[in-house]
Amino acid sequence: MVGADKLEEVRGQIKELAQAANNPQELMQQMVKLLHERMLKYNWVGFYMMEPGANPPMLVLGAFEGAMTPHTRIPLNQGICGAAASSGHTVVVDDVSKDPRYLACSLETKSEIVVPVFAHGRVVGELDIDSHFPAAFTFEHQQLVQYCAQIVGKKLETVER
Ligand code: SME
Repeated sequence: MVGADKLEEVRGQIKELAQAANNPQELMQQMVKLLHERMLKYNWVGFYMMEPGANPPMLVLGAFEGAMTPHTRIPLNQGICGAAASSGHTVVVDDVSKDPRYLACSLETKSEIVVPVFAHGRVVGELDIDSHFPAAFTFEHQQLVQYCAQIVGKKLETVER
């Protein structure tokens, strides 16, 4: 069980990263590294970004920490990733073996959270985290991951119209 203090501390560190980062790419790279290092149950942490101009729309693997995934490009009608991006809502799966949408990245993955990243009111990408532990993403974790996605969206708005 991760205490409220730890979650608060990591949230503060994320805020500092966002203030110091020169651009969104740098922020995303540092963010996945920090979350992967500090949150022991976050075993794979990565961004998928909407491919500009792609038709049909496509999510493309961006900054990530953890083992290489076979899913470097995900259409919006596939996976937990596609479900989050197409609905614009956070998707939390406590047991991936019971979710028919799930695209396997690692055999060890038990639970997953995907949070859309919005810029100028549009979904421009998402933050995806896999855990080797079932039901790792409790409400407090959802709040942290949503904070991370939101701060990336704000950074993207500073460089994209
Ligand atoms: N599990 C995801 C695919 C991406 S990997 O987890 C890195 C999905 O079902 O969309």
